[in-house]
Formats: sequence, C-alpha cells, structure tokens
Amino acid sequence: MTKRYYITTPIYYVNGAPHIGHAYTSIAADVLARFKRLDGYDVLFVTGTDEHGQKVEKAAAAAGLEPQAFTDQVSADFRDMAAKMGISYDDFIRTTEERHKRSTAELWRRLDAAGAIYLGHYEGWYAVRDEAFYDEDELTTRLDGSKVAPSGAPVEWVREPSYFFRLSDWQHKLLDLYEKNPEFIAPSSRRNEVISFVRGGLRDLSISRTSFRWGIPVPGAPDHVMYVWLDALNNYVTACGFPDETAPRWKFWPADVHLVGKDIIRFHSVYWPAFLMAAGLPVPKRVSSNGWWVVEGEKMSKSLGNVIEPRQLVATFGLDQIRYFLLREKAFGADGSLSHQAIISRINVELANDLGNLAQRSLSMVARNCDGRLPGRGPATGEDTELLNAAAALPDLVRERLDRQAFHDALEEVWKVVRAGNGYIDRQAPWALRKTDLERMGTVLRVLADTVRSVATVLQPFMPGSMARMLDQLGVPPEARSLAALEVPLPDGIVLPPPEGVFPRYVEPAA
Ligand code: MSP
Repeated sequence: MTKRYYITTPIYYVNGAPHIGHAYTSIAADVLARFKRLDGYDVLFVTGTDEHGQKVEKAAAAAGLEPQAFTDQVSADFRDMAAKMGISYDDFIRTTEERHKRSTAELWRRLDAAGAIYLGHYEGWYAVRDEAFYDEDELTTRLDGSKVAPSGAPVEWVREPSYFFRLSDWQHKLLDLYEKNPEFIAPSSRRNEVISFVRGGLRDLSISRTSFRWGIPVPGAPDHVMYVWLDALNNYVTACGFPDETAPRWKFWPADVHLVGKDIIRFHSVYWPAFLMAAGLPVPKRVSSNGWWVVEGEKMSKSLGNVIEPRQLVATFGLDQIRYFLLREKAFGADGSLSHQAIISRINVELANDLGNLAQRSLSMVARNCDGRLPGRGPATGEDTELLNAAAALPDLVRERLDRQAFHDALEEVWKVVRAGNGYIDRQAPWALRKTDLERMGTVLRVLADTVRSVATVLQPFMPGSMARMLDQLGVPPEARSLAALEVPLPDGIVLPPPEGVFPRYVEPAA
C-alpha cells in the first residue's frame, strides 16, 4: 500500500515582504516533506499566499497599486524566498486563483446547504492586522484611551450586515475531537489553551464583510465578500482538488499536519475543523504550532528596523547553515532568539568542528592511505559494533522525533553519533595503525565511512546541498540515498572522489 503524507505551511499574507518567521515555518515543513520522501512516502507539500482581505487591500492602496497587481508582485517575492530557502513544495497556491475561488464558493454552498449559515448583523471589534474579531473583554485600553487586541493590534468598531457560521453548535464536537485525538494540537501547552477557550463557550462567527470588496463574493449575495480566514483555510482542500473528489490529489486529504504559528492556532484548531465537520469533510490529523523568533532578544518590528530578511541571512552564512541553525537552536513549539553570535557558534562548533571534521578526517585518510578506495571491513571489535549500531538506529530515532516536530531532538540524536564518531577516531588512532596494522586501519576507516553515510543520509532533509556533497564523497550513488538503502552496504573497493571540506568555519569579514 502506498504511504501518503500531506503537509502544509500557513499561506502567507502578501501585505509585506517575507521575513524570517515565514522562512522558518517553510523550512520546518520542507524538512518533514523531504524526510517522508526519503522514507518512501508519496508526499504532497503545499505552501502559498493569502491574498484577500482588508489588510492586503490597504497595503495595495498604500503602495498605489490595484490589489491584483500588488498581490502578483508580493506573491512572486514569496515564491522567490521559497526557492532561495530550498523549499521543495509540490504546489504554491494563491487564493486569488480561479481554482481556489471555485473551491471556496463550493465550501460556502455546502455549509449553507447544511444549515450552518444565517444572515445577521455584526457589531463589534475588529483588528485588521490580525484579520480577527475580538470580544470587549479580550481588549486592553492604552493610556491614550485606544483599545488593542491581545496581539497588540489596533481594533476598530465594525457595524455591518454579515453572514454568520453557527460555530456555537460545534463546542461539544470539538471538545470530543480534542479528547479522542490527543495528538491533534501540539504542543500540549497550546492544546490546553485551545481546550479552555472552547470550554468557555463559542459564539457564532461572522464570515462575511460588506465594507470592502477585496475578497471572494458570497454565492448568491454579491454585496458580501467572504471573511478572509474562511477563504484562507480552505486553501488546504483546494490544493487537493476540492470539490472534485475524483481529482488525483483528493486522496491526500485529510492533511497529516498543518504547521502554523502560535498566533494562528485558534483559526486552525477551532474554526477550521468546525467548518470541515459542518461541510461533511474529514478534519486534519494534526495542527502543530511553532513559537516565535525574536532578534537579539527583541521582538522583530518594522519600527525597530530589526526585521530579518531570510535571503540576506542566507547570503551571509549559507543556506544549509541557516536551515540547520533554525531547527537546532530551539524547540519547534517554543520561542527563541536569533543572534549573530549564536549562528556563528552553531556553524563553527557543530557543523565545521563536529560533523565537518569527522567526515574530512575519515575521508582524507582513505584518500591518502587506501589508494582512494573504500576499504572493506575486517572482524569487528566491541567499539566498532557499538558505533555502527548507534548509526544504524538513526533512521528510527529521527523518524520518531520528526513525527512530533521535535526537530532539535532529532538533530541531537544525530549529534550524539557524530560526537561518538569523533571519540572513536581519537581512540582508534588510525594514523598510528597505518604503521602497525594496515588491515585494522582499513576496518576503522570503513566503520567511520559507514557511520558518516548514515549521518549524512538522515541529515539530507535538513541540509540537502551539503549532504549531497558529503554522500558524493562517500561514493553513495543518488539512487542509494533513501533510508531503506542504508540496509545495503556500499561495495568494498569503490573509488572515492577526492575529499573536500563541506563546512568551512565562519570567519567574520574584516571591518
Ligand atoms: N495568512 C495567515 C495564515 C493563513 S493560513 C490558512 C497569516 N499569515 S502571516 O504571513 O501573517 O503569518 C504566517 C506565519 O508566520 C504565521 O504562522 C506566524 O506565526 C508566522 N510568524 C510571523 N512572525 C513570526 C516570528 N517572528 N517568528 C516565527 N514565526 C512568525 O497569519
């Protein structure tokens, strides 16, 4: 049976340029997509841009452009960012595409046919920056008397006719969903927050607006446009071909995991499953939320001028270095701080010293002392077996951690083996064996080459370019780089290309 895996990133608002927060979720999703492909899954990986709503309409007006021309421009910039970050998406969806408008109109009709929608009047607070409605008791009043949302976004009083979704009908079904599927929301701190929010009672949700035009028209009521979150969330089924259930991709629904920022967990774990259940569609299996990056300890903001451009960071430090750093530095669900020093230290200590040296020391000895040919293995000692077993256990250990989005733990497991490899080479001292026992030297170098092969194989999803180079140097042909291929040993005696360092140390440019 084919194993399938469907993973998504949030679709990004096109009100401004991509920053490191966007790149982060995309890289995390990319690692999971690549890992599942290596593990023999048929993968669908979707990212894209969220282009309707008042926030984008305002940004277009501020740029002096028509919304469509503006979103074409910014969406293309997000696509470029994805390419520069090495994001191996299968589909880049834009909510302004016809396929999505058709799909979302159909979702609306199904909700309507199920009796889940009624016409009413909305009166209350709205934050354009968050594209979210707030209750009075969620707001704080500032010294100047203005009110702000919990996110700090300014709110305005809105009064207009609106269609409502009967969210209040879904409280018990949602609680039941969380109860029966403890893995549905991650991490557990977020799960608890969502549960207590839903336990507190749910009000019907305003799902259309009449005070601006930049959205998908409500079927049969063209003076209303759909609430941007209903439109945006629906991208996840549009990408599977909805409403055409015979579409080749429909088999991917429901998604295995939606990766989302902690600020948008409520939309994904409350509204989205409620819409789906009401429309008679299956709900996603998991919503996993990431914490936020701050920069050198401070919140990123345009006014502080400390917004990090991911492409800039990559130009300075290298793509794989940044991908590694972002997933290694903090737990996925936790907040973390991005700092120049911390990046340099990860690069120089873990990539250059630990992993780079392990590969370089082993392979340069093979080049110099074994005629550049991969030596065969003689009888194994206890230490050989211990290292080889640790390396062979990596695919399972990494898989288990990635299935929980515990990227930093997965990398820690790999680094345990890298450090053990460096300890092994120091103790075995193959440079001394060269003079006393050539056969044993060959075995030691082969144990090291096999260890580095396992390490490089499981690290491919994190650092695709560098690990491809490392596997080239180990003589592993492209078709033997899957997890399953690790079961088949490399042939003895194959000629290896001359080794070259994969991870240079980062040296601060002279001022
Ligand atoms: N358009 C909505 C998502 C719709 S999904 C159906 C949206 N877009 S966004 O562009 O504002 O944000 C996208 C993601 O970036 C969110 O998951 C958000 O949490 C994340 N980040 C924004 N700033 C961030 C950091 N500083 N750090 C980490 N992630 C952050 O929300």
